Amino acid sequence: MNKRVAIFISGKGSNMVSLVESMVGNHVARPCLVLSDNPCAEGLEKARKLRVPVAVVDHRAFSGDKRAFESAMIAELDKASPQIICLAGFMRILSREFLLKWHDRVLNIHPSLLPKYKGLDTHARAIEAGDRVAGCTVHKVMPQVDSGEIMGTAKVQIYKGDTPEALAKRVLEKEHMLYPKVLKRYSLADYRPVFMEFDRVCR
Ligand code: GRF
Repeated sequence: MNKRVAIFISGKGSNMVSLVESMVGNHVARPCLVLSDNPCAEGLEKARKLRVPVAVVDHRAFSGDKRAFESAMIAELDKASPQIICLAGFMRILSREFLLKWHDRVLNIHPSLLPKYKGLDTHARAIEAGDRVAGCTVHKVMPQVDSGEIMGTAKVQIYKGDTPEALAKRVLEKEHMLYPKVLKRYSLADYRPVFMEFDRVCR
């Protein structure tokens, strides 16, 4: 029986595309829904082209009423019945109540090597700090932002004279490799983390 995966997006949806494209063949998971809080998210059109059902729950329509916003999202999820939720550039913080309902089944990708650089502007902060290594992390989602058990990391070198934009581009390429690898393991109930060292998978 396939595992059903819902993917939440707010923007471009490039990670969503890499996840959807990975769920083929003998992969035990299949995408059942792409849900966006932003009706203008570029990723929505990409999801439609990939023939994945889409839903929009526009956060602005709820004027800050998080409970009502999340109830509307839950109504969409109830229709799609996912077993796993992947946040992929989803820009809203989910409440403790929402996460309790989906306990341990919500993953996120973050563009830094957590626990370093939670929040925004991760690449600029890594360059500013003089770091030599950057990367991305897939983690389980907890009520505390960018916390939760680490399910995978991928590393990228920071070069002399790197800009946040150039680094973001290289990290994003790794995100597109790491997230599908983690999801594949996770959907097989194999909870060992995936560690990608620069250009190879270590274990
Ligand atoms: C990625 O860098 C991801 O790590 C962060 O938001 C960005 C989303 O990009 N959470 P995309 O929408 O998947 O292209």
